[in-house]
Amino acid sequence: MATGSNHGDPLLVRAIRNETVERPPVWLMRQAGRYLTEYRELKEQHSFLGLCNSSELALEVSLQPVRILGVDGAILFSDILLPAGALGIEVDFKPGPVVKNPIRSAADIQALKLSPFEKLLEAPLATLAALRREMRSNGNRGVIGFAGAPYTMACYLIDQGPYKGFLGTQVFAKQNPEAFNRLLNLLTELVGDYLLAQYEAGADIVQLFDTWGGNLSADDFRRYSLPSMQKIFSRLKQAGCPALVYVNGGGHLLEPLYEIDASGISIDWRTTFSQALAAGTVCGRRGETVIQGNFDPSDLFLDAESVRRKTRAMIESFSGRKGYIINLGHGVLVKTPRENVIEFVRAAQEGWGTNG
Ligand code: CP3
Repeated sequence: MATGSNHGDPLLVRAIRNETVERPPVWLMRQAGRYLTEYRELKEQHSFLGLCNSSELALEVSLQPVRILGVDGAILFSDILLPAGALGIEVDFKPGPVVKNPIRSAADIQALKLSPFEKLLEAPLATLAALRREMRSNGNRGVIGFAGAPYTMACYLIDQGPYKGFLGTQVFAKQNPEAFNRLLNLLTELVGDYLLAQYEAGADIVQLFDTWGGNLSADDFRRYSLPSMQKIFSRLKQAGCPALVYVNGGGHLLEPLYEIDASGISIDWRTTFSQALAAGTVCGRRGETVIQGNFDPSDLFLDAESVRRKTRAMIESFSGRKGYIINLGHGVLVKTPRENVIEFVRAAQEGWGTNG
């Protein structure tokens, strides 16, 4: 199995610091989950929340893709909706999130109170500590923590599901600007505190997922999502925690994204590296902000040879041993053939000369 690094900090950590590395590291969003038979077997005995809320089981699920794929980092097995419990909002998974007491009015938001999350999120934080130990002794690999961006979390709490792309949340925000702002402020505090706790517990880097921010126009993104992300990233930066931002469908939002001051921007497959780099030039951040991405998850359904060829082509189009983390443009899809995921990781790690 190819290892992350033989010396010093893990490859992933050196890459997110924008150091020149022997090869760009690779991991995959949703690398743990239903495309793996090992995961499905555990799911026969435990509910999704049962897995997330047991640090032993969550550790096992987080480690599966490291063993099977040989990726350079392990992402915590959990979900972006778990912290909503700290606002008194209960979420179940069937398998997508189902909110038991969704927000229906401005008055519902007025009644929300933020409670301490230490007990609620004890398992994920303990999982990160164990994962850190495992990753350091297993090829010196990195540990990735994560959370949902306040705007994306608000989408689930208000709309419940991706009905018409969460249009209900956009309308709610416009009709109830003050209440929506209060909700965003509560989530911003919660997510910031939680990511800092993840960093303290053992995460090397964290990623903030704004999965639904791409639905917004650039103006609305600046109004409803950007300010909360800026606050969170500035706290992370102060604490020294490297952090990535991901906005699905965010090709039209690159310029605001550079204003977040993230260590790295994770782009989807509809956005090209040259677009991401050109926006970096406009914002005076080219060469400073790491780019992560952006293999099309549906290309993993091609034959293994095409997966290899397309992966190499993607890497060559970025060209360089600095400022790049190899990933997909979004999560691994449920029915993806595992041998193609293995091929993707191999193609990413091989061919870098003596260190590769
Ligand atoms: O990346 C990983 O391997 C770590 C685990 C992880 C999960 N969810 C596990 C999960 C991560 C990072 C997430 C984040 C997440 N959850 C996001 C942001 C990332 C993205 O995909 O855009 C979002 C929007 C959610 C909300 C959510 N949770 C959805 C939409 C679903 C249904 C997804 C599906 O595949 O059907 C979930 C449930 C969920 N989260 C599952 C897993 C493995 C499936 C649950 C099961 O196995 O029954």
